[in-house]
Amino acid sequence: MLKTIEQNNLYIVFDDSLISDDIERCFDAQYWQHKDKVTGSATGRGTTWFVQLKTIQAALRHYRRGGLFGKIISDHYFFTGWQDTRSVAEFHLLKTLKDLDVNVPTPIAARVVKKGMTYQADLLSEKIPNAQDLVSILQQRQLNDVEYQAIALQIKKMHQAQVNHTDLNIHNILLDTQGNAWIIDFDKCYEESGEEWKEGNLKRLLRSFNKEVNKRQIKWGIKDWECLIKAYHQ
Ligand SMILES: Nc1ncnc2c1ncn2[C@@H]1O[C@H](COP(=O)(O)OP(=O)(O)O)[C@@H](O)[C@H]1O
Ligand SMILES: [Mg+2]
Repeated sequence: MLKTIEQNNLYIVFDDSLISDDIERCFDAQYWQHKDKVTGSATGRGTTWFVQLKTIQAALRHYRRGGLFGKIISDHYFFTGWQDTRSVAEFHLLKTLKDLDVNVPTPIAARVVKKGMTYQADLLSEKIPNAQDLVSILQQRQLNDVEYQAIALQIKKMHQAQVNHTDLNIHNILLDTQGNAWIIDFDKCYEESGEEWKEGNLKRLLRSFNKEVNKRQIKWGIKDWECLIKAYHQ
């Protein structure tokens, strides 16, 4: 069941069937380090820590800005209301998608700490077991048509759920060892009606493939894209 804690400067939403730890402390990487429950990490804008909960592993992320602006006020955002904050919004968006059977991490808990007119945010979500992002996989091998179809299916389902993924790139798509595709990183994403924006998500994804061909020599070609797009439209 979803529970919330609301105090003057603190808001937490969590699923009490997934986490039974000290909920006020479980957003701090140090807490998990002291308990020797950190199982790994990944770096994107910041560090995502993987931690072992009772039954599942979780990914712990502190929200940070990218770019030059981010170097100045790296992790503070202007506060307009608890439900508008980065982590609470992502938590609820993941819940919506999960309930519609889209392969996204199950949200576990979100925290917002208010500091004057600004806030800091953290999210705990399920770590997708036995999965790697497409960039890592494509540096080692090509994907086959069935794998591209699995990726297309999840993008299609996300779009049928009317969720606009504003950062749909190949770092944010994972493939597990069972051949399931997963979409992650819904920071700044939102529900949107209509169809026009869907093409924008796909264009961004295509740019990402092209970029990584040059940057990391990924094993990908235009035939692969045609396969993905064909499956998306089926
Ligand atoms: N739920 C998850 N399961 C498995 N790996 C994850 C998960 N969340 C993040 N990662 C890994 O961490 C990286 C960075 O996380 P992400 O949520 O995309 O944050 P950002 O891009 O803002 O740094 C991802 O590219 C992925 O490799
Ligand atoms: Mg990302």
